[in-house]
Amino acid sequence: MPSEKTTKTSTKRTATKTTASKTAAKKTATKKTAAKSTAKSTSAKAATTKKIATKKPAAKTSAKTTKVAATKTAAPKAAATKTAATTNASKTPATKKPAPKKSASRKTTKVTSAPAQPAADPVLKVEHLSKEFPVESGVFASRIAKKVSAVDDVSFEIAPGETLGLVGESGCGKSTTGRAIMRLTKPSGGRVLFQGEDIASMLGKRLKKMRHDMQFIFQDPYASLNPRMTIGEIVSEPLVIHNEMTNRQERIEYVRHLLDVVGLNPEHINRYPHEFSGGQRQRVGIARAFALHPRLIICDEPVSALDVSIQAQVLNLLARLQKEFGTAYLFIAHDLSVVQHISAKVAVMYLGTLVEQSDYLGLYAEPYHPYTQALLSAIPLPNPDLQKKRNRIILQGDPPSPADPPKGCRFHTRCPIATEQCKKERPPMEEVAKDHYCACWHAEPYPIKGSNIAL
Ligand SMILES: Nc1ncnc2c1ncn2[C@@H]1O[C@H](COP(=O)(O)OP(=O)(O)OP(=O)(O)O)[C@@H](O)[C@H]1O
Ligand code: SF4
Ligand SMILES: [Mg+2]
Repeated sequence: MPSEKTTKTSTKRTATKTTASKTAAKKTATKKTAAKSTAKSTSAKAATTKKIATKKPAAKTSAKTTKVAATKTAAPKAAATKTAATTNASKTPATKKPAPKKSASRKTTKVTSAPAQPAADPVLKVEHLSKEFPVESGVFASRIAKKVSAVDDVSFEIAPGETLGLVGESGCGKSTTGRAIMRLTKPSGGRVLFQGEDIASMLGKRLKKMRHDMQFIFQDPYASLNPRMTIGEIVSEPLVIHNEMTNRQERIEYVRHLLDVVGLNPEHINRYPHEFSGGQRQRVGIARAFALHPRLIICDEPVSALDVSIQAQVLNLLARLQKEFGTAYLFIAHDLSVVQHISAKVAVMYLGTLVEQSDYLGLYAEPYHPYTQALLSAIPLPNPDLQKKRNRIILQGDPPSPADPPKGCRFHTRCPIATEQCKKERPPMEEVAKDHYCACWHAEPYPIKGSNIAL
């Protein structure tokens, strides 16, 4: 954030220096952690292989899916106990504080790296990630006219077994963030640490190991499955690529078991994707993602193409599998109401930047950023009386183009409380309540300016 740094007051510069020295100390610690992680991951791989080989088919997944909220409180299995404890700890609601003053003297903590502080070493740490796409023009598209700033200075981290919901409207850079994390697209800046290792420096076996431990569930269940492969072949493909479970019969049994776990009929192992509904295809994608027992799955809007009733089933399934296997999720969605059912933490994105991040209770009960407040006010309430009383915040205008983002705060062209300062200076991500971070010069807890958001 070079431009941001130049706008800080001298007090903040002092704070930044202190943070810089802390960061240096952290780097040393990180090196040690990286060494530990390598040792751990080697033994984890052996354990995983053994686990897959000895796994017994689990009890049949109930098609009668229970409420999503109920899944959240279900007792975790023994193997996932530690993970579940970590997740629950991070669900502690943010301490309610009186509204901070609007001036720059607000006592906040400057965040120079990922703001959240999970108890365990993060499985994923994203630091100042940026991605620019060149836009070509000219008769034969030979000239790069300008750049699309799809992701700009995004930082967060995810603890093992935890879910971070990444929310924002269409085109704000969610998928690009996910793809850059998995190195499906090359980041323009910042770095991504997966299990303590920088993914940019990964080559050969290390890169393959990263692709083993980090999987992707795609947004479109129709386009993401190869129509020429049977679902048995699709689900077993990661095992073949990573040379695991080389015995064919054993592999078929395991795939049948996986299909059973995600609620599909194992007898359909030789059917093709076009013989399944959208929800069933998404279950195939989930079975494939879980085949290697990854540490992290990037779920890119996995339910947005599905009916509401099927959405609940798939969300329940993801929550149950997370408890069973201790997998962490980066759960991408454009709707805050979807992520609240599955996420311990939520990060809100606007035009390539993160504007607010908190544990989900803090964010939903007391949003600080005007954009988050507007998103929350758009969620319909089940109680019609409350719904009638509520003032919905309707943002004016369309989101600006990421090819020409506004200076200062990127949200200022649509913000109902923007000031001159907002047009000139980009607000830093600061702690506004316990473990609750917001990038706004005038951050105030909900409700904002007479709105009546009820949850
Ligand atoms: N390969 C590319 N070349 C040029 N621009 C791109 C490319 N991929 C994405 N973009 C642009 O980057 C921005 C962010 O795109 P991205 O797909 O990450 O958005 P998103 O938040 O996932 O949107 P949606 O919710 O619709 O999936 C958009 O403006 C998009 O047009
Ligand atoms: S910094 Fe200013 S423009 Fe940006 S969200 Fe806050 S009040 Fe609105
Ligand atoms: Mg997308």
